[in-house]
Amino acid sequence: MTVADSPLAWWRRQGLRFRLTVVAAAVLALALAVSASVLLTVLDRALIDTVDESTRQQAQKVRVHADAGTLTTPITTNDGTIVQVVDAGGRITHVTYGADRLVPLLDAAARERVLRKGSVTFMDGRPFAIPGPLRVVVVRADRGRTVIAARPVAEIQTSLATAGRVLLIGTPLLIVLLAAASWLIIGRTLRPISALRRGAAEITHTARSRRLPVPESKDEVHSLATTLNDMLARLEEAEQRQRALVSDASHELRSPLASIRLQLEVALGHPEGQDWRETAEGVLEDTMRLSKLAEDLLALARLDERGGVPARTEPVDLDEVTRQIADRYGDVRLTACEPLVVSGDALDLSRVLTNLIDNAVRHTTSKIEVALTGDGTLTVTDDGPGVPEEDRERVFNRFTRLDSGRGRDEGGAGLGLAIVRETVRAHGGTVHLEDAAPGLRVVVWLPRG
Ligand SMILES: Nc1ncnc2c1ncn2[C@@H]1O[C@H](COP(=O)(O)OP(=O)(O)OP(=O)(O)O)[C@@H](O)[C@H]1O
Ligand SMILES: [Mg+2]
Repeated sequence: MTVADSPLAWWRRQGLRFRLTVVAAAVLALALAVSASVLLTVLDRALIDTVDESTRQQAQKVRVHADAGTLTTPITTNDGTIVQVVDAGGRITHVTYGADRLVPLLDAAARERVLRKGSVTFMDGRPFAIPGPLRVVVVRADRGRTVIAARPVAEIQTSLATAGRVLLIGTPLLIVLLAAASWLIIGRTLRPISALRRGAAEITHTARSRRLPVPESKDEVHSLATTLNDMLARLEEAEQRQRALVSDASHELRSPLASIRLQLEVALGHPEGQDWRETAEGVLEDTMRLSKLAEDLLALARLDERGGVPARTEPVDLDEVTRQIADRYGDVRLTACEPLVVSGDALDLSRVLTNLIDNAVRHTTSKIEVALTGDGTLTVTDDGPGVPEEDRERVFNRFTRLDSGRGRDEGGAGLGLAIVRETVRAHGGTVHLEDAAPGLRVVVWLPRG
């Protein structure tokens, strides 16, 4: 502890185990000290009261005899009470066996004082050859006489002292025992938390184990550990997805860039007889692929960023949007176009349709049909090769292409359907693929807004 440290700061820096143990021991010590002192006080009071009561009874008995004139010498008491009867002149007339016959235990003034104050008092017995303190009762009798009855209370004081000693030794012993037990129990309770801490430290240091140890007991620490593990699993999953996305994206970027580089190198290496127009067209085509890729990645990033909510929630006339887009493609037949208003982002929704029609155009053999019905269903049907049943979910994943055997020029990056699904989901709708025998039908459903 340095000089600058306040005791409070020092206390706060101590471990939970130490603090809990100290607090438990301190509370117990206080409780035991209070109860010990209450116990001793009550015991003392009760014992003295008993002595007072019986001494008073003896004194009363002697007074009755004195008043009736039936006192004998020596006075007999059966419980060791010392009695003196003093007459009005201050002379002792009767005593119990062995009591002083000449000097009263209390002189006249003291007797008066005791009578006034409640007729019981303590006094030292040693001047009268009685060991220890005495409890003395004074009672008034007829003809100015007084009865003095006394009882040694040394025994009571010895018992109280013994009880005190027992408590003095027993209490600290009990506190030490409790502190030791608390230390052990708290240590055991905190062990799973230490294990969690060690597990977390291991994750940060080695990044090898990705899970925290879960204690067997089904308590709060158990649920904390499982919750944290769930969180770690989700983080890991997100991280993996991110990594895969970056690696896929870099991979997709590589081929158009390599193609551009090759065309330019060839053109510059052999400038004579070079068709620059053809080179420029080739480079432009690759550049457009790059820019489409960048746009699609950006669209996905925006969808991720918003976390399943459309960019805007305005009423969109989907029939209007569908008609406009269908008109752009020469060979698309609009078989139905019922009025439908959905709430969302017109630009995002038109991208859904464009992506679907682009796919259909790429795969169809003769016809493409688009239909929009008033219940919110939008279908795009082609008569191409279709998608096998087992791949109809997989194709919605990012960078998933089935026709990998075909030339890169024809296919895109495999982001189109991923954008479709995520946009539709953000608008609260669903999308799935169906067999159009022959061909493929994409069915989009959007809730009416
Ligand atoms: N109408 C279709 N007929 C047959 N197969 C299809 C059809 N539409 C999509 N597919 C298959 O699903 C795959 C994924 O489609 P998606 O639109 O996601 O990617 P893409 O069209 O290859 O690339 P991008 O859309 O990014 O330019 C395609 O590669 C293709 O194999
Ligand atoms: Mg596509």
